[in-house]
Amino acid sequence: MSKLVFLILAVMFFSCTQPTTSEVMIIPQVQQTEQLKGFFKLKPTTAIVYSWELLNEANLLFNYLDRKTKLQLDQKTDLQSKNAIVLKIDTTISNNEGYKLHIDNKTVQITGKTPAGVFYGIQSLMQLVPQRLNGNYLIPAVQISDEPRFEYRGMHLDVCRHFFDINFVKKMLDAMALHKLNRFHWHLTDDQGWRIAIDKYPELTQIGAWRNSTLIGHASDRPERFDSIRYGGFYTKDEISEVIAYAEKLHITVIPEIELPGHSQAAVATYPYLDCFDQQLEVWNKWGISEGAFCAGKESAFDFFENVLSEVAALFPGEYIHIGGDECLKNNWQKCPHCQARMKAENLANEHELQSYFIQRIEKFLNSKGKKIIGWDEILEGGLAENATVMSWRGEQGGIAAAKMHHNVIMTPNPICYFDHYQGDKKNEPLAIGGLTTVDEVYEYNPVPSELADNEQKYIIGVQSNLWTEYIPTTAHAEYMLFPRLCALSEIAWTFNENKNYENFMQRLVNHKNTLELYELNYKPYN
Ligand code: ACM
Ligand code: ZN
Repeated sequence: MSKLVFLILAVMFFSCTQPTTSEVMIIPQVQQTEQLKGFFKLKPTTAIVYSWELLNEANLLFNYLDRKTKLQLDQKTDLQSKNAIVLKIDTTISNNEGYKLHIDNKTVQITGKTPAGVFYGIQSLMQLVPQRLNGNYLIPAVQISDEPRFEYRGMHLDVCRHFFDINFVKKMLDAMALHKLNRFHWHLTDDQGWRIAIDKYPELTQIGAWRNSTLIGHASDRPERFDSIRYGGFYTKDEISEVIAYAEKLHITVIPEIELPGHSQAAVATYPYLDCFDQQLEVWNKWGISEGAFCAGKESAFDFFENVLSEVAALFPGEYIHIGGDECLKNNWQKCPHCQARMKAENLANEHELQSYFIQRIEKFLNSKGKKIIGWDEILEGGLAENATVMSWRGEQGGIAAAKMHHNVIMTPNPICYFDHYQGDKKNEPLAIGGLTTVDEVYEYNPVPSELADNEQKYIIGVQSNLWTEYIPTTAHAEYMLFPRLCALSEIAWTFNENKNYENFMQRLVNHKNTLELYELNYKPYN
């Protein structure tokens, strides 16, 4: 063989066995990264080595690697460190969810202050495992030090307008974990369906979970048209417990939302005594804001809530229960003798104060069960409940006002965090509620408003996307609306502002398609 041919073959061999790029491409962007020389070669003989409190994380890593590489690695609790991925707790790391990921040619080490930190290190590692090249997986050597900007990194899903079964919910939890999101806000009750089984009130899911027809097209279309298909569904308590346990392994807290006093027509249709005038309503078949609201005057309505919320509090282990509070029409309350009598007895100046009375009473009850409440920003009207966290959705003003009152705030402003909006030219997109929320707009959002003083900023505990599903009947459609916008949201939730860069994010997002596809997630195509 001539020297020249040998040289060409050698160069070809070398370029085939080495990855062409070793750039660290992780979403959400990590806080600190230093590239080292070389690669860790992942092989069938590589072991997962873990300390006993990280069994859950070791199992998850095994499953992730099995899915991505088909390698089924041994899991060990011994001291092997060569040819191993080592998972360890390191209490010197300052942030509870922080981690360090060190990769060199002998070992991969993931250390976290807690199992959650190690879990996020695993998520980063998995995004660095490349495609197989000549039978090898060469993971670029790197030292990463990472922690989240916000403690609350949320995704909301409305299962009332359209119902999604627990397989889909679990798939979304996997997608959240991949993006280091840690709060799943499960919108379980609304005008169009009650989706959670309550032992004391079985009719809520026998009657309240089903509507007899549904609006066709957009809510603004005239004349209104309806199908005549019975539609609905609900979760049993066992199913909900299964979701909670699944989420817990992924370090995600599930926050149930039980809407009150508005958006409650499904419950009122089930039990007409909950209505101011005992009207027999139907589970709603339209989109918008219905008149169906709980009577704030009758004691029987509070008994109902206390019974429902007792069961909800017992079922969900997290500290928060979301009690809604948005878009409650007060027309019935203005005319209702029970509501008016309550206002007089409690010295309430108007119906906003009556709503505030309602929420404060529910808050006290839930506090007595060891739970805290979150409410949409309307709960500011008429006086904010003492310990409530405010979810700012009508823009940022509610969140700013609450932070100035030293209440915790989750920013989820419309339109930026509303993923039910169009994400491109309406002509080319499936029917949506309206608006336009593009990936770059989501990406550029900073959840901490500049008008907050330094000592007020800490009350912004996080950010969340909302997926309302009036116009989203299928799981594939839901995924299409979520991705890639949720990827952008994850970066504003996790990454410090100074480490964000849109152009760089878009490059990583192109690389991220492989991961979205590995997770079998539908997404709006992008370049
Ligand atoms: C909301 O979007 N009505 C909270
Ligand atoms: Zn009333």
